[in-house]
Amino acid sequence: MRYLMEVYTDERAQQQRLEEDVRQGLTARQKSLPPKYFYDRAGSILFERITELPEYYPTRTESTLLGEIVPGLFRDFFPDEIVEIGSGSSEKTRRILDAVSAGGRTVRYVPLDVDRQTIESSAARLIRDYPALSVHAVVGDFERDLPHVRPPSGRRLALFLGSTIGNLDEPARRRLLAGVRGLLPDHRDRLLLGVDLVKDVKILEAAYDDSAGVTRDFNRNILHVINRGVDGNFHPEAFRHRAFYNAAAARIEMHLVADSAQHVKLGRLGLTIRFRPGEGIWTESSYKFTRESVESMLATAGLTLSEWHVDPSNYFALVLAAPA
Ligand code: SAH
Ligand code: AVI
Repeated sequence: MRYLMEVYTDERAQQQRLEEDVRQGLTARQKSLPPKYFYDRAGSILFERITELPEYYPTRTESTLLGEIVPGLFRDFFPDEIVEIGSGSSEKTRRILDAVSAGGRTVRYVPLDVDRQTIESSAARLIRDYPALSVHAVVGDFERDLPHVRPPSGRRLALFLGSTIGNLDEPARRRLLAGVRGLLPDHRDRLLLGVDLVKDVKILEAAYDDSAGVTRDFNRNILHVINRGVDGNFHPEAFRHRAFYNAAAARIEMHLVADSAQHVKLGRLGLTIRFRPGEGIWTESSYKFTRESVESMLATAGLTLSEWHVDPSNYFALVLAAPA
């Protein structure tokens, strides 16, 4: 069978979790929302537009780097299966799939993402373009559903690209990497991890506050998702996009800031949320890394750094890690 899809987002449980996350996040003193709620269909399309912006260097830098390291990577390591966490459009992954499926070799690709529509459309394109590929898509939450990924059939390469790991805070990163370690039962299995690096503040802040306003629209989209999910009446345009680098914590923070006082009704929760002028919702952190911070993060999960590749500007790194 060349295509199989497993869905671990039971709609009722997902709705309950959304309600719980929104209630907790918006009734706290520092209001916040989990960034996974950016990614409905509209949010995934906006993210794809972000990846093409001149200011957003991570995607093109990582893609070029992938093209450069892939031949060397597969000289002495050839996976039978590739599991990708937060796979999105799987566009960059083609650099890897081109190499592993060359010569008609059969490879299993297991993309895992919360956004069902994105995973379905990217899987359909991959099946069409790679005749030797079998795709076993998993719709789920990488913070909960990694144990559902079936045991590998041969050597496995896990991919976690795009520095999506940077959208998790430290305890969540540790838990996630421990889960990834569980996906690599053989000492010859590997993880390829993409991480955005600490750099000049101006470059970092421009990447999260682009001149065309696409990141602003991506940020506001979370309020459309919440309106739909809990019958809310947020006016997304009444919230200003704010992104800045917090150097002490090595992270970009994105917030949505109310320009004037707002009363927002969340019908399904029976709640009214009040905002003072200038009060914000913290919607995303995007942590930035150094080689040292990556090494210690891997070590906490029983993984060890085996290769470190960076672009000439030292903007982004691809890290090959092995079970310790
Ligand atoms: N890997 C791609 C996409 C990065 S965007 C790239 O490098 O360009 C982040 C992706 O992670 C989105 O596709 C989003 O739907 C997915 N995602 C975010 N939070 C998630 C979660 N908790 N569980 C599963 N997927 C998640
Ligand atoms: C998916 N993730 C790694 C992106 C990032 O850079 O943190 C999401 C994003 N947020 C704003 N722009 C892009």
